[in-house]
Amino acid sequence: MQLPVLTILLGLIAASASTQYTSPSPNPVAGTAGPNIAQAASSSVSGAYSPNTSNILPAWNGFIQAYGTKLADASCKLFPVNGPNTWSWVEIAAGVAAPPAGLPANTDAIEFTMAEAAQNGQTTVRIQAYGLNPTFPLQTKPGVYNEAAWRSIDYILATAAKYRVKVIYTIANNWVNTDGPMTYVEWATGTNNTDLFFSNPTALQLYQNHLNATANRVNSITGVVYKNDPTIFSWDLLNEPRCTCYPSQTTNIAALPPSCQPSCADSITAWTGSNGHYMRAIDPNHQVLVGNEGFWGFNSPLKSNDPSPSNNWAALTGQDFTAQNSFQNITTAAFHYWPDTWGDNTTAFETQWLGSHDSAATALGKPLVLEEFGKATLTPSVSDAVRTAQRLPIFNQPFLHVPTNELAQLVDCPFAEDAAPAGF
Ligand SMILES: *[C@@H]1O[C@H](CO)[C@@H](O)[C@H](O)[C@H]1NC(C)=O
Ligand SMILES: *[C@@H]1O[C@H](CO)[C@@H](O)[C@H](O)[C@H]1NC(C)=O
Ligand SMILES: *[C@@H]1O[C@H](CO)[C@@H](O)[C@H](O)[C@H]1NC(C)=O
Ligand SMILES: *[C@@H]1O[C@H](CO)[C@@H](O)[C@H](O)[C@H]1NC(C)=O
Ligand SMILES: *[C@@H]1O[C@H](CO)[C@@H](O)[C@H](O)[C@H]1NC(C)=O
Repeated sequence: MQLPVLTILLGLIAASASTQYTSPSPNPVAGTAGPNIAQAASSSVSGAYSPNTSNILPAWNGFIQAYGTKLADASCKLFPVNGPNTWSWVEIAAGVAAPPAGLPANTDAIEFTMAEAAQNGQTTVRIQAYGLNPTFPLQTKPGVYNEAAWRSIDYILATAAKYRVKVIYTIANNWVNTDGPMTYVEWATGTNNTDLFFSNPTALQLYQNHLNATANRVNSITGVVYKNDPTIFSWDLLNEPRCTCYPSQTTNIAALPPSCQPSCADSITAWTGSNGHYMRAIDPNHQVLVGNEGFWGFNSPLKSNDPSPSNNWAALTGQDFTAQNSFQNITTAAFHYWPDTWGDNTTAFETQWLGSHDSAATALGKPLVLEEFGKATLTPSVSDAVRTAQRLPIFNQPFLHVPTNELAQLVDCPFAEDAAPAGF
């Protein structure tokens, strides 16, 4: 039995509108993020890297919106979400963390990633927009900000705009204390009971103040207010919200401590609805995503689709994919897939995991984004070819079950007659 562990947030975003796990990229490995993007790229790039700034994505018209299960721009041009998931960029951009090993010499990791994404037809980069390093928080005290950290995020957004890459902007992370649930709970209650993040009114207020500060941030490079910036595709409210207890047992649920009770999901569900509503009230332009792995709760009829459903660890995390994506102001559903840390690396489980979320999102009438996934390689020092061979069985399903020409497709949205999409 494998308990869930901190998932390493380096993976590919694949994406989908309903049944399409989208990637126009011909080579799944080219989009791998973090240390792997350097590995994948360094075999084809040597010497100092100088991005070809002519290789940018086609222009999108305005904000990306949800039209039923599809995502499209204001000209009804279908928007396929795909690209790398990144880590430590707030610190890397500020020079307080080293970039991933293996980048070509004199290379800015952020510009490199944006340029590589654009050149591979990848539309979206997911960022972690908070302090991973406790010595470099974005918010140092309630309402007091570290301007250097904001400028990192400004730079990331400005660089994305340069290549017309869009950004999934993750506001906080359940696994990271800095700028995360632990910090808000300490500020609000003086305790470190992080489960209170989902129920304490003061913690909620402090977090919503941060949502407001984020939406109203004026980018110091582009001058664009974040809530008006079409470079941002979506907000992720909190990466992988969970209650703190993940027991592995099938019996005696009633005897478990409060954080292990099925009702734990109720507070996360209410928190999700409240913050989706709050964010869309101040910023109706952007998609709002929860950020969860997508487990179904203990009382959900869909619980059998969870990893290792018989021991309940996933069902008792407090997540419930259907309930937590059901709110009007959670505008796009999203989920993760980590075959190694979840203890089931079979393609049978993968098929079920992808398919069950596809069906559930379709039933909710929402687009679906697989915003994190990855597959560990068994021997990390192997060649690209061996790494690719090890990953392909798992990568195939998200990446190959897609049409290759989505960038040019139109979606049936209310003003489709007026659409004059740019070619690609
Ligand atoms: C840069 O990209 C453009 C557009 O793809 C291409 O026409 C041009 O040749 C490239 N320049 C270099 C130096 O590779
Ligand atoms: C949380 O607080 C308790 C009680 O003060 C303490 O024993 C424990 O070490 C703290 N845990 C963390 C993760 O800080
Ligand atoms: C949100 O932020 C704006 C701009 O900083 C500020 O004027 C406004 O008072 C804030 N609203 C709330 C409810 O905090
Ligand atoms: C969603 O948010 C909007 C604000 O943008 C608000 O008017 C609406 O009532 C919210 N919907 C629900 C169901 O809360
Ligand atoms: C899949 O999981 C099994 C059981 O944990 C493990 O022995 C095997 O090495 C894993 N295979 C891959 C390709 O990760």
